[in-house]
Formats: sequence, C-alpha cells, structure tokens
Amino acid sequence: MEYKELLQQIDKNKMPKHIAIIMDGNGRWAKKKIKNRLFGHRAGAKAVRQIIECGVELNLEYLTVYAFSSENWNRPAAEIKGLLNLLVEFMNKEIAEINSNNVCVKLVGGEEGLEQGYLDKINKTLSTTWNNTGLQFRIAFNYGGRQDILQAVKKIGVKIQSGEITPEDIDSSLLEANLYTVGMPDPDLLIRTSGELRISNFLIWQVAYAELWFTEKLWPDFTKSDMLDAIVDFQNRNRRYGAL
Ligand code: FPP
Repeated sequence: MEYKELLQQIDKNKMPKHIAIIMDGNGRWAKKKIKNRLFGHRAGAKAVRQIIECGVELNLEYLTVYAFSSENWNRPAAEIKGLLNLLVEFMNKEIAEINSNNVCVKLVGGEEGLEQGYLDKINKTLSTTWNNTGLQFRIAFNYGGRQDILQAVKKIGVKIQSGEITPEDIDSSLLEANLYTVGMPDPDLLIRTSGELRISNFLIWQVAYAELWFTEKLWPDFTKSDMLDAIVDFQNRNRRYGAL
C-alpha cells in the first residue's frame, strides 16, 4: 500500500509513544550487492533519515534506534572505526534539518571504550537540538541492556553505601531513574528487521511489555511505509499487561 494510504489507516489516538528499532541486516544487504559492510551501514544511515522523517510526520514522541551495541566492539577494527565515523558524518550532514524539524537527539549508552574527544564532538553537535520539544530521537550507542542494568545497580549501591537510601528504597522507579533511559517512556513497539527473532540485549528492562514486530526486510530496504505497517499492526493488538 502507498505511504499516503497507510497514513490514513493510522489511528492518531492509538499511537505508540515510543518506538524502538533494531536495525539489522546492513551487512547482508551489502553482501548481496557484492560491496563491503560499511557500504551497507551507509545505506542504513539513509534509512535512518527516512524513519526520523516518518516520526516527525506522525508526531511520534520517542524513537530509539540501536546503532552500536556493547557487543559490536567484537567486530573488526575497520568496521568499528567506520561505524563511529559514520555517526559523526551523519550528524554533521543532517543536524540542521533535524533541528529545523524540532527534533531533539541524544545518545543513550555507556562511555567506556569511546574517546572523550569523540563524545564531546558528537554531543557538541547534538546539543544544538537539546531544547527541541518535538520528536525525541535517541541513538543507542555503545549500549547493552545488561550493561545498563548493571551500571544502574552500581549507582544504587553507592547511594546505599553512603546512607542516602536503604535497600528497602529499591523499587522499579528507583531502578528506572538510574538507567541510561531515565525520563523516557518504555517502548510500546519494538521493530527488528532482517528476519532475526531476538532482542539482542537491547533495552531488556524497558521492553518488558513492548509489542514485538519483525520483518524479513534488511535495514537499508526499510521504508516509511514499513514503519506504518508496523504501527497499524500494533494498533490492532490487544495489550493486556498480564491482566484479562
Ligand atoms: C546491524 O547490521 C547494524 C549495525 C550493527 C549498525 C547500525 C548502524 C546504522 C544503521 C548506521 C548509522 C546509524 C545512525 C544512527 C546514523 P549488521 O551489520 O549486523 O548486519 P548483518 O547481520 O547482515 O551482518
């Protein structure tokens, strides 16, 4: 179905607040075209541009993409370097338009392994959007769900040790206040491309009640219409959160 037709099927009153996406399949996409993996990641960045645009058009509140996982450090050095550079390049190129659409962009993830100069450079670029009140676009970068929970537990441990809180104070909201995703609503809809049916350590605490939506399409082929397909499907589901 055409994008415009699909748009009409969207129920504006039943929009997911937060869509999270595991952008998988860049490598396979490139391989099919007999190109190197970085060529696939570059094509993936173009798809990212499209889904930001779609998020803006839908007045979506939060959109989070998994751009670099804690486990991606195990890839060849050239691919890691390529991915780190691609993020800088993408932001330098797109930030003006992102800003003009009132989109706020932030990184979500750990700092270990990344040079301070690198983070400072990216954050300087992103900070021009930080007062924007439209789509909250989050890039999970150097992110792992278990690592997220562990660092939150460590922060809570320090507070207990200093006497600021007691173990009885630990509840879901305290843990959530210490996660990298502090202040963000949980994803309602989790999309994964490339036919893999896994969560792969992405927002594992936060997706507890998310609806999962999978597609065989490889990430660089993912379009705005695919995003709408996922949302229409989401809107036809019956979410019960463990109740009847
Ligand atoms: C997974 O595909 C994808 C990644 C590890 C990187 C995702 C990065 C981008 C889409 C590019 C830039 C992002 C932004 C936010 C500008 P894969 O390499 O694991 O693919 P494969 O499973 O087919 O090998």
